[in-house]
Amino acid sequence: MINLILEQMQSGHLEALAELEKICFSQPWSYKSLEEELTNKTAHFFVATVDGEVAGYIGVYIVCESCFVTNVAVFPQFRRQGVATALIKMAALTADAMGTDFISLEVRQSNAPAIALYRSLGFEEMGLRKNYYRNPTEDALIMTKVFKKG
Ligand SMILES: CC(C)(COP(=O)(O)OP(=O)(O)OC[C@H]1O[C@@H](n2cnc3c(N)ncnc32)[C@H](O)[C@@H]1OP(=O)(O)O)[C@@H](O)C(=O)NCCC(=O)NCCS
Repeated sequence: MINLILEQMQSGHLEALAELEKICFSQPWSYKSLEEELTNKTAHFFVATVDGEVAGYIGVYIVCESCFVTNVAVFPQFRRQGVATALIKMAALTADAMGTDFISLEVRQSNAPAIALYRSLGFEEMGLRKNYYRNPTEDALIMTKVFKKG
C-alpha cells in the first residue's frame, strides 16, 4: 500500500506539475498556465502526493451542470498503483456533490492505458472530435460518466 494523500493544488506543487506535463504531453501546460488555475473559480485541481512527493494530478472545470477534465497525469514511477483512480474519484465526487450531471473528457484514440482507466471507472464512449490533437494530429474520443441522481 502506498501512502497516498490527495489535496487541492497549491503554488508549492506547480514546479513538479509543470515537469509532469512536459513528461506526459506534446503540448504541455506551462507553470504559468497551471498557476492561473489557482485563482480560477471554475477550476478544481487536485494533487496526489506519496510520502510528500508529487505523484500526479487532475484538473477539472465545473460550469453549471457540467464537469470537464482538463488533464490527468501520473509520474511514471507512481503508475499502476491506483493514483489516477483516486484522483478521478475525487474529482467525480466533487463534481457530483456540486450538482453536476456528468463528468466528461477527451482522450487520444491511441491512448490505450488512459482509455482502460476511464472505462474501469464507468466512463463511456460518447463520440469523436476529429483532428482534435496536434503533434501528432489525432482524433479525440469523448468519454463521459453520467451521475445517477435520486
Ligand atoms: C493514464 C494514467 C493517468 C494512468 O495512471 P495510473 O495511476 O497508472 O492509473 P491507475 O493505477 O489508477 O490504473 C487504474 C486502471 O487503469 C487501467 N490502466 C492504467 N494504466 C494502464 C496501462 N498502462 N495499460 C493497461 N491498462 C492500464 C488498468 O485497468 C488499471 O487497473 P490495474 O492496475 O488494476 O490493472 C498514466 O498512465 C499517465 O499519466 N499517462 C500519461 C498521461 C496521460 O495519458 N493522461 C491521460 C490523458 S487523457
